[in-house]
Amino acid sequence: MSATALPNATVTAAYEAMTPGSAALAAKARQLLPSGIAHDGRNQDPYPLYVQRALGPVKWDVDNNRYVDYFGGHGALILGHNHPTVMAAVQEALSRGTHFGACHELEVRWAELITQMVPSAERVRFTSSGTEATLMALRLARALTGREKIVRFRGHFHGWNDHMTSGYSNHFDGSATSGVVHGLSDSVLLADPNDVAGITRIFSDHKDIAAVIIEPTGASFGKMPVVPSFLQVLRDLTTQAGAILVFDEVVTGFRVSPGGMQAECGVIPDMTTLAKIVSGGLPGGAVVGRKDLLDWLDFKVSAAKGQEKIYHPGTFNANPVSAAAGIATLEILQSTDACARANAFGEEVRRRMNAVLEEEGVKWAVYGTYSGMHIYTNPEGADITPSTFDAVQFIPNMMNKPRGAGITSQVRLGLLVNGVDMNTGPSGTISAMHGEEEMAITVDALRATVRALRREGLLH
Ligand SMILES: Cc1ncc(COP(=O)(O)O)c(C=O)c1O
Repeated sequence: MSATALPNATVTAAYEAMTPGSAALAAKARQLLPSGIAHDGRNQDPYPLYVQRALGPVKWDVDNNRYVDYFGGHGALILGHNHPTVMAAVQEALSRGTHFGACHELEVRWAELITQMVPSAERVRFTSSGTEATLMALRLARALTGREKIVRFRGHFHGWNDHMTSGYSNHFDGSATSGVVHGLSDSVLLADPNDVAGITRIFSDHKDIAAVIIEPTGASFGKMPVVPSFLQVLRDLTTQAGAILVFDEVVTGFRVSPGGMQAECGVIPDMTTLAKIVSGGLPGGAVVGRKDLLDWLDFKVSAAKGQEKIYHPGTFNANPVSAAAGIATLEILQSTDACARANAFGEEVRRRMNAVLEEEGVKWAVYGTYSGMHIYTNPEGADITPSTFDAVQFIPNMMNKPRGAGITSQVRLGLLVNGVDMNTGPSGTISAMHGEEEMAITVDALRATVRALRREGLLH
């Protein structure tokens, strides 16, 4: 069933008509899980989609509806779902055991690949998630510099550890969010992305900055873009101040290019945080960077230098199944044009979707860089042209809106009933498996969605 099959239904009614199985599971889940979900990004009215299987660029829900998938495992699946080489590596690893409580050969090969591919990676420490990687990156930077302050950018996401919560979607003044120790926010300085004067002032006002951390293509994979020249400004300021520059490449790593954004733009950070693609769609992460920084995790080097080694256990660090998936994925990315193919699809799908918006007379825009796309639904009704939209100018407008607010939830539902799953941004990440068929479905889904929302009176 689709919105086309229910021409006069609202997108919500069409969604409810085609997803009774998801509705039933959501009703039960709400009795067991807060909001019925396991990740805030899956919150969706009237209820989230329950998926039962996936393959390549598509997935099927529990009612057997088929969707072109741009959720992409929250960005982890640049090779699409169930890539045969990755799956074979995972199954082979599984047959030998899930956890040896010991070092194993795969973690060595995995680290070797990462150091070959990521320019800043002299040493690698595996974690179980991106949140753990960013947490460790800050700790390493503080240990090395002996300073406490961290600079972050408003709107940028680095996971949910205590230093990272304010200034992402609220608390833009840096005050502590619910449950976070108040004093902690004193050590976090929030800056505005692309504001050269602002970040320069922060460095002249504060001599105790340990690190600057940034999503190098901008908040949420370029939803609020960072202009590449700003990265060089950060490189220069941190070098002059003796502070550590951290690129959070949890999304962009192995995606914008095999060596991430740093390989693409030529600005090399001191440390990089990785997750998602690094472990091939299974749980995992890593903090990588200069040897002298990662040496704070090394027993012998720390003892020899008389520095207090940073403690770092973690039951599932470098678990062998994630390692197998990571190796298989990275080897493909290193030896093929998979990143470039996903990027080319991104450019073309954005172009064609903007053509639809222009044909339909809708002043929204589909924008993004590399294999990302974001739909700007223009809540202020600004006079924009979809194909020439410059998102950088609209960052302040986006910053003040709660995520998933306004019409964006209806857009997501409209796309779902027309066979396309994006996140509530609405934003999507593209895999190297998306092809012409998925492109056509996506473009048609956008057209059907704007027509349906116009019928509902939600679009002017
Ligand atoms: C840029 C960025 N950093 C860090 C994280 C946190 O990673 P994880 O969800 O593995 O903890 C994410 C997750 O989406 C992310 O997008």
